[in-house]
Amino acid sequence: MVAKEKPAQLKIGNKTYDLPIHSPTAGPDVLDIRKLYGQAGVFTYDPGFTSTASCDSTITFIDGDEGVLLHRGYPIDQLAEKSHYLEVCYLLLYGTLPSASELEKFESLVISHTMLHEQMVYFYRGFRRDAHPMAIMTGVVGAMSAFYHDSTDIHDAHQREVASIRLIAKMPTIAAWAYKFSVGQPFIYPRNDLDYASNFLRMCFAVPAEDYEVNPILSRAMDRIFTLHADHEQNASTSTVRLASSSGANPFACIAAGIACLWGPAHGGANQACLEMLKEIGTVDRIPTFISRAKDKNDPFRLMGFGHRVYKNFDPRATVMKQSADEVLELLGVENNPVLQVAKALEKAALEDPYFTSKKLFPNVDFYSGIILEAMGFPTSMFTPIFAVSRTVGWISQWKEMIADPQNKIGRPRQLYLGNTSRNYVDIENR
Ligand code: SDX
Repeated sequence: MVAKEKPAQLKIGNKTYDLPIHSPTAGPDVLDIRKLYGQAGVFTYDPGFTSTASCDSTITFIDGDEGVLLHRGYPIDQLAEKSHYLEVCYLLLYGTLPSASELEKFESLVISHTMLHEQMVYFYRGFRRDAHPMAIMTGVVGAMSAFYHDSTDIHDAHQREVASIRLIAKMPTIAAWAYKFSVGQPFIYPRNDLDYASNFLRMCFAVPAEDYEVNPILSRAMDRIFTLHADHEQNASTSTVRLASSSGANPFACIAAGIACLWGPAHGGANQACLEMLKEIGTVDRIPTFISRAKDKNDPFRLMGFGHRVYKNFDPRATVMKQSADEVLELLGVENNPVLQVAKALEKAALEDPYFTSKKLFPNVDFYSGIILEAMGFPTSMFTPIFAVSRTVGWISQWKEMIADPQNKIGRPRQLYLGNTSRNYVDIENR
């Protein structure tokens, strides 16, 4: 798909430069500066890329002002209600909703590739038991390139497809085994007669000593959490995967880089940080103290689960997540969960506070997901690994799109240099 073009002029000094403007199918126009340095000898400057499009894409679109999230044009609230994670994976990967036969073939392909190379079991044993599961996932996923050599050639479309299916299929097993390792329980192998979310829950919570039945409401909630985190345009971890892939690195190494970036508390680590914050607040009467801290410029504390680089309205995923939180907690008979009470009171207080409303700081996807995951029995250390399981399809879809793009080249940003100009070495006796 080629964007429509219109002209723009940039005047620097007494010179004028023509810079084309590309008009998208949705969202802001983009000013094409690819020739700017060659024509005018200047760089653009945009730390954090708040105003910079790094690529063109047809996968996901966000309208932050309207609180809209589309995957291949389909609104996230419709997908969360009517679809399920593996169908959304198909949509993100291939661009269309599958027919019944296409979906059945895709699902059986994924479910039948959920086992790991048996040697990888020993890889886990190299970690301390108290290793953070994200440390384990970063290591194990990066190591996959040492076990699956036959799907590392990024220029072979078949190998790209095999690597994609392997990663989507094996991430739940990798994450579940990271959890089992941390609690000293035996690894539970995946089962091909279970759906994706049920398989994950069983691998996390079953023990060999007794049968384990997956609660359908919990597996539906798990699947919805996977669906809501699947992709999100060019966020930090997706941009990391794209930049790592631009050098031609193998897909397993690039996804490991994305996992490492997601771990940060400003990004995917926010769900763990948010729940730890809610627990630190503890009771509703302590909320004003924490809101004051979040507003204090001299205090680095921020309300975790609030704010977003793009959404300056409600994160549509948070709205759906809030409904799931109510369903799961009611099912588990913990609708009076003190953490949920603090969360709801904190959300109300923040949304009535001009500091947050003026800065468009609304609850994001991480605000409610942690509450559901904790109610389901996950430790906070497993929240970001679950985010990573879900986002793998987004990373892979964006990676495939980039590899197939004829404009694809190695990413190499420039800088505004403010260091020393050239100076001569001084011998130590003269310093
Ligand atoms: C995810 O990019 C994505 O799409 C990410 C994600 C995805 O699906 O991939 O959606 C997942 O990462 C969601 C975000 C999870 N992070 C958190 O919940 C951590 C808490 N939020 C903040 O760290 C922050 O809001 C960010 C990092 C999310 C966004 O930061 P920005 O856009 O860079 O905004 P900013 O830091 O420039 O803040 C703007 C102003 C500042 O005040 P001023 O300097 O203008 O006076 O708002 C303030 C900030 O101090 N602010 C907050 C705040 N977030 C921003 N103040 C208190 N609490 C907060 N949470």
